[in-house]
Amino acid sequence: MIWKTKITQMLNIQYPLVMGAFGGWGKSDFAHSFSESGGLGTIAALNFPKIEDFKNDLQKMKNLTEKPFAVNLSLPHHALDKAYEEEEIQKRHLAYIEAALSKECKIFTTSGYKASFIEKRVHDAGGIWIHKCTLLNHALSSEREGADAVTILGLEGTGFKNPISNTTLVNITVARKYLKIPIIAAGGVGDARGFLASLAMGAEAVCLGTALMTTEECPVPARVKQKWIQTDIYTEDFYKRIYHYNIKNFMAPSTAIAHCKEIIPMKKLIHNIINESEKILKSWGFTNNEFRTLGL
Ligand SMILES: Cc1cc2nc3c(=O)[nH]c(=O)nc-3n(C[C@H](O)[C@H](O)[C@H](O)COP(=O)(O)O)c2cc1C
Repeated sequence: MIWKTKITQMLNIQYPLVMGAFGGWGKSDFAHSFSESGGLGTIAALNFPKIEDFKNDLQKMKNLTEKPFAVNLSLPHHALDKAYEEEEIQKRHLAYIEAALSKECKIFTTSGYKASFIEKRVHDAGGIWIHKCTLLNHALSSEREGADAVTILGLEGTGFKNPISNTTLVNITVARKYLKIPIIAAGGVGDARGFLASLAMGAEAVCLGTALMTTEECPVPARVKQKWIQTDIYTEDFYKRIYHYNIKNFMAPSTAIAHCKEIIPMKKLIHNIINESEKILKSWGFTNNEFRTLGL
């Protein structure tokens, strides 16, 4: 089946799937497998304190895949990044952007706090800027400030959240009524039904984080992945960790871990999500060979 959404068209990718930013692990060895599987892989620039190492990894990514990928710039709230003044943070991030542009990488995702300073440089270079946030207000201000799309992260997910984060269901269905730019749903998605549901709710793509943590390519020892697979999400401890905002746990697997049953290659994970989605669509009486969200 051909998957056509505003995001597959904007990013020139086969499936409406975007890899989350991964502090620590979002490097070419991991990210290329996502791009090669038909989604948008993501290299997190801050994983490379030295710009030269970042450039080398971009080159490595380009050698590993000819498919599109993104560069992420995470901007923690200043309370978490006290070592730097805002101006200094912007200078540091703009240097990463210049490095990426010098390697002809033009898709940028940002997350966190005050990212709009990148807009002019990215658009002047003919690039794309997608901002990730958690609240409708922040999504609307990203749109006003020129973002080409927004990723909205729900309470079910992991990563930078907000004390008043809402669920993916509420985020996407409500945002779809107010935003003109395409929305990418993030938070708690790990299987075909979550993927299809996100598209039905109004997203033009889904962003996967936790679901990728038990792929063979995720650069973590297999014994750690096996431990994650055994996570019981229906415990008070897990519930508190995910739903009671606590920035210290921001890299813990999310509720999406409930869908991870074995360690599998990235290609198989993506294939399973797409194949199962196509089967579900058929069981609902969908007979087209093209899935499109471009209408409404
Ligand atoms: C180990 C790990 C590291 C992450 N690091 C970052 C990061 O540096 N920047 C960021 O914006 N999001 C980060 N995230 C969040 C993901 O990019 C994504 O938004 C989130 O995982 C989506 O929710 P899900 O895990 O339920 O799929 C991280 C997630 C995980 C699991």
